[in-house]
Amino acid sequence: TSVQWFPGHMAKTRRKIKEALPLVDLVAELLDARVPMASRNPELRSIVGQKPRIVLLNKSDTADEAVTRQWIAAFAKEGVPAIAVDCKSGKGLNGVLPLARQVLKDKIAAWERKGMGSRPIRIMVVGIPNVGKSSFINRLAKGGKAKVADRPGVTRGNQWFSIGKGGELLDTPGVLWPKFDDPAVGERLAFTGAVKDDVVDTEGLACRLLLWLRDQYPGRLAERYSLTGFEDMAGHELLYAVAKKRGMLISGGELDTERAAATVLDEFRGGKLGRISLERPEGSL
Ligand code: G4P
Repeated sequence: TSVQWFPGHMAKTRRKIKEALPLVDLVAELLDARVPMASRNPELRSIVGQKPRIVLLNKSDTADEAVTRQWIAAFAKEGVPAIAVDCKSGKGLNGVLPLARQVLKDKIAAWERKGMGSRPIRIMVVGIPNVGKSSFINRLAKGGKAKVADRPGVTRGNQWFSIGKGGELLDTPGVLWPKFDDPAVGERLAFTGAVKDDVVDTEGLACRLLLWLRDQYPGRLAERYSLTGFEDMAGHELLYAVAKKRGMLISGGELDTERAAATVLDEFRGGKLGRISLERPEGSL
């Protein structure tokens, strides 16, 4: 997604989320399980304030399971209940409403005392572009858009979806941004493909990914590209080695590093190098 964030758009999203907050019981923040920090919106905590919040680590099918468990523990320590989900297959999604109920148990008990026990739980789903919000809504929405036109305080343009078994989902009002002024964040998002390659230097990006894999997951690199003795290779040397192993040549017999770069990025994103987490929790979040 080559979305550009401008101060005006950001202010508008901030305002729209704040306006919609009184309409929901809970905010569900979708993060990419491979990069839970880079895929966060740096201001969400302050925008959401006291409203209960849960974290859904999406695309967990592509992340290292052990690391995802560490993230879940780290979020729990911060008082934010988190679970792993996979909106591609639907795995983990039946845990979302039970988690929401758990978080809201006092509120639900109060509803029951008032004879409002059947009131649906209203959840606002938020996340930066490409994190899987549409997939999440498509998977959970039962019977299309919820009929909420007669609900007081509903801002026109807000999209509500019924998710069955007593839940309703509100799509993010506006487009959330990542911490885009941090180059490391931009790079990790680019590795995952959340930033379109036509706005980044593909060969440079592939070289940096290869370097990172050399240090963090050397076994996967060795296996995928039949490489040996690459511990001290620089990024561009690794890219040459991949091009050579794959027989990627351009006319004249030179190595086609552009094609090798696209291949490495594609295969990483497509899970061909296995389940890999790009970020690990260290200390506090
Ligand atoms: P957004 O609304 O937040 O922008 O995200 P969206 O649902 O459009 O998802 C962005 C991309 O992430 C899509 O891939 C989608 O299929 C993929 N995706 C969403 N959830 C998961 C998940 O749990 N696991 C995996 N592996 N992928 C997920 P795409 O390349 O844009 O389309 P396509 O590959 O589905 O054709």
